[in-house]
This record gives sequence, structure tokens and C-alpha cells, in this order.
Amino acid sequence: MQWDESLSVQNEKIDSQHRQLFSLATQLEDLFETYSESNYDYDEIIRIIVKLHLYTIYHFETEEKILEDAGYPGLILHKKEHQRFVQFLENIKPDEIDKDQYQTLLDLLAFVVNWIMSHVKGTDSAYVPFITEE
Ligand SMILES: [Fe+2]
Repeated sequence: MQWDESLSVQNEKIDSQHRQLFSLATQLEDLFETYSESNYDYDEIIRIIVKLHLYTIYHFETEEKILEDAGYPGLILHKKEHQRFVQFLENIKPDEIDKDQYQTLLDLLAFVVNWIMSHVKGTDSAYVPFITEE
């Protein structure tokens, strides 16, 4: 999964944070490409998920502040979508991922990667006209 110019929201700060988010998601994807069910580093996967969680919180704060300053009318719904994603990440209990560990991590990864992609492509692109300076 790659960030490209078509995903730009015409704001330098947000774009660079989105690039960072995509790069963390790509790191996760790469791990799964090199790992197999019988040979993978559970701790490393969890480490990147924790990093992603922290970075996501930081990024959402930045983005929400910019949208607030711009008086974006869709802010409440947008914030809710952010909150749901943060909650999902917070509900991951590394100690409880025991049964079908590899499959659980794969499902988790698929969800995270899809969410980031569809959020940036869909939900985020909706605010572009509101934050673009004339
Ligand atoms: Fe967003």
C-alpha cells in the first residue's frame, strides 16, 4: 500500500502525516509477506501496531484541529470515525491473541490497512474543498 499524489488533501502537514501512516501500514504488510504461519515475530508485529496506534492519535489531533479552524461542517462525524478506529486499536489485547494467533494478526492487519486506505481516500477527501485556501 502506497501513498501517492492522488491521495493528497492539498495540505502539506496532513499529507506528510498520511505518508507516515501509510509507511507504518506498509511495514506491517511487509512483515506478513516475509513471515509464514510457522515462522513470524509476534513481538515485532505488536510493536508496530502500538507505534501505529500512537501515531494515529497524534495525527487525528492535528487533522481535527485543522478541520475545526476551517469550520468544516462534517467535523463531528469525521471525529466519530477517528474515535472508532482508535477504539479498535485500543481493544487489541496482545496477551489474549493466543488461539489462531497468525490468522488473528492477519485479520487485524487487513482491517487496519483497509481502514487507513478507505478513510484517506473517502472520508478525508471530503474535507479538501473546505481547507483549501483561495
Ligand atoms: Fe481523517
